[in-house]
Amino acid sequence: MSENSNNEPFIPFFLPSISSEEEEAAIRVLRSGWLTTGKEALAFEEEFARFTGSPFALAVNSASSGLILAMDAMGIGPGTKILTTPYTFISTATSAMHLGADVVYADIEPKSYSIDPEKIEDALRRDKTIKAIVPVHIAGNVCDMNAIGSLAKRYGVKVIEDAAHSFPSRTPDGFAGTLGDAGVFSFYATKTITTGEGGMITVKDAETAARIRMMRSHGINRTIWDRYTAKGAAWKYDVTAEGWKFNLPDLLAAIGRVQLTKADDFFRKRSAIARRLTEAFSRFDFLETPPDSPGNAWHLYLIRIVPEKLTIGRDEFADKLQAAGLGISMHFIPHFEMTYIKNRYGISREDFPEASRKYEATISLPFWPDMTDDMVERIIRTVGEVGMRNYSRSAP
Ligand SMILES: Cc1ncc(COP(=O)(O)O)c(C=O)c1O
Repeated sequence: MSENSNNEPFIPFFLPSISSEEEEAAIRVLRSGWLTTGKEALAFEEEFARFTGSPFALAVNSASSGLILAMDAMGIGPGTKILTTPYTFISTATSAMHLGADVVYADIEPKSYSIDPEKIEDALRRDKTIKAIVPVHIAGNVCDMNAIGSLAKRYGVKVIEDAAHSFPSRTPDGFAGTLGDAGVFSFYATKTITTGEGGMITVKDAETAARIRMMRSHGINRTIWDRYTAKGAAWKYDVTAEGWKFNLPDLLAAIGRVQLTKADDFFRKRSAIARRLTEAFSRFDFLETPPDSPGNAWHLYLIRIVPEKLTIGRDEFADKLQAAGLGISMHFIPHFEMTYIKNRYGISREDFPEASRKYEATISLPFWPDMTDDMVERIIRTVGEVGMRNYSRSAP
């Protein structure tokens, strides 16, 4: 690790927890003669379905492609719209656009980074072409799924959870990502479990699962594994729709299987670190600690500075943390800041006061399960020092 001006080692934003078990799993596949989607991916799907209590789990090569597949299976296409928030990663929205659909944005709640159910209802009342709500469980903090579920029922729309951040967020009603009609998880390099790149879709019925299985593999009516293992006629297949190539290779699925066995351990470690950070930061009136729903998977740790209490803004605060050796990030630059979205929908920050308020003051701190106590204490000390050195004497 490199050193900063304080001569202390740099604390990266994220480091994956990978051990010899993941290495051995990858070597096992490399030596097996079967690298693409096959029995490892099938086993990963079964194990993920069992873990989450979901009837069906379908492995894909990213959550972005998973969102396209889930939306396709839920009937999103030309002439329809999805409803989500601008406070998310870009592919929550572009997935719908790839299908020829459009996106309606609702602002987030004042108390969290989650879509505001009141704003959902306003949109559903106004626009009958909205066919699905796509709530995003930012940082692992679960949206109000009871309110969202009843609105979806009342207005006859689907719920497709963007659960990219929320494995394994447990709620009294089940895992986030299994509470709507479909859920999409990410195993991107910085996620709570990782395959480098990858994702999983959970759905409730066999017909939807079959559509996703087919569409993730060119619209071909047989899987590669089935064609390989079936006795006779291995070469025969038909194409019944214009699908994509979104399958997860065995090489990555094998790593995912090992990571899945460690998910609870990672979760416990992340929760303990989050508790320590929140306890320490609660003493600082120039900070707001992150929202915390029950069972929060704690993918990220977001702080919000209180601009009225400081002489510097978010960008300068973030630069100072970076200069002091903390690898920080920002979740998220909202969609109304993106040229493409601005041009397509003519929206701006004034349309989304809560998302703007959060965006202008939020910073993601370094956060991963194997961070040492020393690292955690240094993060607390550094954030505290930057805040105290730039505290506004005329603060209210
Ligand atoms: C909220 C959200 N949704 C979807 C995605 C897409 O995930 P992936 O990188 O697996 O395509 C991300 C990625 O970071 C994300 O943060």
